[in-house]
Amino acid sequence: MAGGAIVNTGGGKDYPGKLTVFVFFACFVAATGGLIFGYDIGISGGVTSMESFLEKFFPEVYRKEKLDTSTNQYCRFDSQLLTIFTSSLYLAALVASFCASTVTRVLGRKWSMFGGGVVFLVGAVLNGAAKNVLMLILGRILLGIGVGFANQSVPVYLSEMAPARLRGMLNIGFQLMITFGILCANLINYGTAKIKGGWGWRVSLALAVVPAAIISIGSLFLPDTPNSLIERGHAEQAKKMLRRIRGTDDILDEYNDLVAASEESKLVKHPWANIMKRKYRPQLVIGILIPFFQQLTGINVIMFYAPVLFKTMGFGNDASLMSAVITGIVNLFATFISVLTVDKLGRRKLFLEGGVQMLISQSMVGILMAIKLGTSGEGHFSKAYSGFLVLFVCIYVMGFAWSWGPLGWLVPSEIFPLEIRSAGQSINVSVNMFFTFVIAQAFLTMLCHLKFALFFFFGAWVIVMTIFIALFLPETKGVPIEEMALVWKKHWFWSRFISDDDVHERNVEMGKPNSAF
Ligand code: BGC
Repeated sequence: MAGGAIVNTGGGKDYPGKLTVFVFFACFVAATGGLIFGYDIGISGGVTSMESFLEKFFPEVYRKEKLDTSTNQYCRFDSQLLTIFTSSLYLAALVASFCASTVTRVLGRKWSMFGGGVVFLVGAVLNGAAKNVLMLILGRILLGIGVGFANQSVPVYLSEMAPARLRGMLNIGFQLMITFGILCANLINYGTAKIKGGWGWRVSLALAVVPAAIISIGSLFLPDTPNSLIERGHAEQAKKMLRRIRGTDDILDEYNDLVAASEESKLVKHPWANIMKRKYRPQLVIGILIPFFQQLTGINVIMFYAPVLFKTMGFGNDASLMSAVITGIVNLFATFISVLTVDKLGRRKLFLEGGVQMLISQSMVGILMAIKLGTSGEGHFSKAYSGFLVLFVCIYVMGFAWSWGPLGWLVPSEIFPLEIRSAGQSINVSVNMFFTFVIAQAFLTMLCHLKFALFFFFGAWVIVMTIFIALFLPETKGVPIEEMALVWKKHWFWSRFISDDDVHERNVEMGKPNSAF
């Protein structure tokens, strides 16, 4: 290993270099790609509960809600048509992430971000100006394409730019921007819902152009990652970039690893066929299960339906929107905890602690609702009782915000080797989007049928995923991204999928001795 400031944090080797201002700003700008995703998550629920919006585009839903006099709190808001509108974005994002995979690999990460931003911008304009449902849905599909491209490229970009020992922190900038986007959207909805004249929803939808413009313009100034430059045959540029982002001339060791990774990458003509190979089984399984589990925590029940949920819990109209703002603030600030700890404590500890915290708080919400509403859905909450409910919802959101939220994007972006990284990230995005869609679609019906037990349903999944992490996720903190293969080789279960050749190949090719793992 070359000399210099070597910090060994994760049991593996690290390259010399420091956190330069240049890399910090590059990651900051790229992370703003999370704003468009967050803004949309936060804005949709509020807009679809505005009367003027429903009256214009979904008159039947509007009429039904007006006529509905049932007192069963669990079943008041069940309307599929509206959820189809909300979820159309996720289906579009799912498909788009596969196209983004090719753009990200062949043209470089920044062009996927740029494309995502621009398409999202057009979608926002269409939505803000919508005259009929067709314009609305078309706009939403464009928003989805934008999200698909951004979520596919941004996490990979961040993980490649960051020095290994700070990769967690810099990557979580993406989740931080998601939570900031959600909070801004919640606040904007709170304001626009008060606009008299029935056009508040237009302001909410049209303001999505702001985050879209930020990432579109910002991405134009971004340098490409050294990994992507080498992969596309620009070796000299990559060397220069590496010196610049690491702030040292001592980059040969890291550079050699990138070249080796790129050599392997060149042997792979069809990443999609390759990803099915036995030696990639650990990454593939984890790359599918992590986004699946992330959605099965039930977080989006809170994010999309907080106003509805708080209404079910007995809060008034205004109070329920305000409670959504509170969870938005908790979500943002708790994410900072993971920024500060992920590279010290590691991924596993955060996952495990977050899982236990979510399980306890989710169960408390279920129990409190069971006591007051029972299975009939009839009942009323006192102020103190409602306060307790909000408290446990906040503890739950906090647990998610420093575990499954950020790690759901960080871990898949750092475990795939270069040759299948882009394809792997598309799988991550599409699984995430698919289950976001399923939950968004099923939640209202599930609430109506499962009642308070809905919280125990998600709680059961949290138990499963926490056990999965304990047994099957190796610690990846501080391990250089192109050295990740060694982590699987050392794992009690996954080692059986990795032959010695798979790990040694790269080092032998480069004429280097085996790494110090
Ligand atoms: C998830 C979203 C979720 C958000 C909440 C993200 O990591 O992918 O589905 O709404 O976190 O902060």
